[in-house]
Amino acid sequence: MKKTIRQLSVVNKKVFMRVDFNVPLDEQRHIIDDTRIQKTLPTIRYVLEQGGAVILASHLGRPKGKRLKEFSLQPVAERLSELLQQPVTMAPDCIGEATKELVSKMKPGDIVLLENLRFHAEEEKNDPDFAKQLAALGDIGVNDAFGCCHRAHASVSGIAAFLPMVAGLLLAKEIQFLGETVTNPEHPFAAIIGGAKISDKINVIDHLLDKVDVMIIGGGMANTFLLAQGYAVGKSLVEMDKIELAKKLLQKAKQKNVHFLLPVDVTVAFNFANDSEYVVTNLNDIPQTGMILDIGTRSQAIFAEALKDMKTIIWNGPMGVFEMPHFALGTQAVAKAVADASAVSIVGGGDSLAAINQMGLADAITHISTGGGASLEYLEGKALPGIIALQD
Ligand code: 3PG
Repeated sequence: MKKTIRQLSVVNKKVFMRVDFNVPLDEQRHIIDDTRIQKTLPTIRYVLEQGGAVILASHLGRPKGKRLKEFSLQPVAERLSELLQQPVTMAPDCIGEATKELVSKMKPGDIVLLENLRFHAEEEKNDPDFAKQLAALGDIGVNDAFGCCHRAHASVSGIAAFLPMVAGLLLAKEIQFLGETVTNPEHPFAAIIGGAKISDKINVIDHLLDKVDVMIIGGGMANTFLLAQGYAVGKSLVEMDKIELAKKLLQKAKQKNVHFLLPVDVTVAFNFANDSEYVVTNLNDIPQTGMILDIGTRSQAIFAEALKDMKTIIWNGPMGVFEMPHFALGTQAVAKAVADASAVSIVGGGDSLAAINQMGLADAITHISTGGGASLEYLEGKALPGIIALQD
């Protein structure tokens, strides 16, 4: 078990908190989706209520060691201040004299947001001296940045050599659901894996086949499985070099007695565009000139039926080209089925979350993960540097 912030006294302490405020911004630098900010509020509020001060540290984008205005965390400071209804002071940098001085004047209840950690190349290089300078800012170190735990960066892992790190409330929740629940699930346990390519999620599928009772595959990656089973998939996206691997995964599912569900019908378009003409067809009748952009209606019903009696469900990745409304129906149907099931449900991945949010189903999901790459690596069973660095 990893130590959490609840096990420490933060009274009169300056808490250095690594968060993942890597939020999407539009061209005017407005925040498009503030989920990641919202999800850290409980930890921030907890520290403030307990009489501590909060020093927030994050990266934003990939400025590659350069100080670029478009990667400033200033818009996040403003949003956070609105959400917390209190001032959030933006530091001029994340290290250096001016920042040290600003932090030295902090009182309990104050919040400072450090400027983008990745303005310094040393962050991604996990430079010990940089980590030491960050560590020197706080009395207590907290990691609440699950989305960054797969990065062995200075503020995520290197810092632990100088400042003992404990889990924030969000990170503790992610560890509980993606780690403990998936390791020790209540059965029957289903995984739904979607997205464009098998290559992105091979290891996740492989690892979960050792644990699940039902594996549902949708999205572009299903095409390669269908091809491996001998179906002609027209002009659909396929990974020819992954056909053998798809066969191996199907074989493994059989050996492990996992009910492996692929689409039984598909929505096929003739152009990669929302306004393209399309047909819903059985697997034997996929037009040669068409491309599969979503699962079909029968598949939606079969997947929903399979999920109905599950006790644990994990879902990552869309069933089709979710950003095109005509080909979002499969993903929406799965979102509804996951929300309707009385299972412990864990959802991750941008499009799956967008479907859940768009349909107003977030409250029906047990845990919504904030990690993109991090949650996939965790689901592969990998040890993440940011979690290893936490105190036991
Ligand atoms: C994410 O968005 O997945 C995290 O913030 C990590 O960002 P990175 O992929 O740029 O390291």
